[in-house]
Amino acid sequence: MLLKVQDIETWYGSAQALKGVSLKVESGELISILGANGAGKTTLLRTISGLIEPKKGIIEFAGRRIDRMGAEEIVRLGVSHCPEGRKLFPQMTVYKNLLLGGYVRKTDPQGIRETMEEAFHLFPVLKDRQGQLAGTLSGGEQQMLVISRGLMSRPKLLMLDEPSLGIAPLLVARIFEVIKDINRRGMTILLVEQNAAEALNIAHHGYVLETGEVVLSGEARKLLNEEKVRQAYLGV
Ligand SMILES: Nc1ncnc2c1ncn2[C@@H]1O[C@H](COP(=O)(O)OP(=O)(O)O)[C@@H](O)[C@H]1O
Ligand SMILES: [Mg+2]
Repeated sequence: MLLKVQDIETWYGSAQALKGVSLKVESGELISILGANGAGKTTLLRTISGLIEPKKGIIEFAGRRIDRMGAEEIVRLGVSHCPEGRKLFPQMTVYKNLLLGGYVRKTDPQGIRETMEEAFHLFPVLKDRQGQLAGTLSGGEQQMLVISRGLMSRPKLLMLDEPSLGIAPLLVARIFEVIKDINRRGMTILLVEQNAAEALNIAHHGYVLETGEVVLSGEARKLLNEEKVRQAYLGV
C-alpha cells in the first residue's frame, strides 16, 4: 500500500469539509476521485499533501504517518501535488518553473536535467517554449507545464487536481492520454476530476465524493456502469 487515508476529518473553522474519508492507493495504480463542485476533492488533496491538518484520522504514505507532517517534508517523501487552477509562476519562464518543481532535489542537478528531458519528451511543446514566460502559454500548455513541474520532484505519488478544467476539448483528450501514459510508465497517480467519464476510462479504481463523504467506490469499469454515477456524473 503506497497511500492509506483512514477516516479523515478536515474542517475550515466550524465548517466540516471532510467527514471521515478513507481510501487506498496501491503502488502503480491510477485512482480517480470524482465529485461535484464543493464535494471536498481539493480539500482531500490538500490534506494529504500537508497544506491543511486533519482534525481526525490517519494518513500513511510509504509506511509512514504523514498526517502531522509539514508540506515540504511530505514532498520530500515523494508526494507531488499539482494544484487546481494551474498555479504557475506566470512571470517566470517555462524552464524556471520546471526547475522550481525540482527544488527538493537541489543537490542532484544531473537528475533534474534528466527528469526535465523526460518532461520535454512527454510534452515537446514545452521544450520549444522553455524560454517563454509561463503566463503567455495557452491554458492547455500551462496544464502540461503544471503536470511536468509536478514530475520534477520525481515523486512516488502524483496528485492532479482537475487537470482538464478550463481546457479546450481537443487538448483535454491529450491531457488524459498523457496521464494514462505517465501511469503506464510506473507512476502512481491520484486524479481528481469532474470529467467523470474520461477519468474513469483511464483509472483502475474510483471514489465518488459527495459533501465530504465517499458515497461510492470500486473498480473504475464497474463505476462507469453504476446507475448513480451515470445519472449524476455522466449525464446519461
Ligand atoms: N479555504 C476555505 N475556507 C472555508 N471553506 C472552504 C475553503 N475551501 C473550501 N471550502 C469549503 O469546503 C468544501 C469543499 O471544498 P473543496 O474541497 O474545494 O471542494 P471541491 O474541490 O470538490 O470542489 C466546500 O463546501 C467549500 O466551500
Ligand atoms: Mg476543487
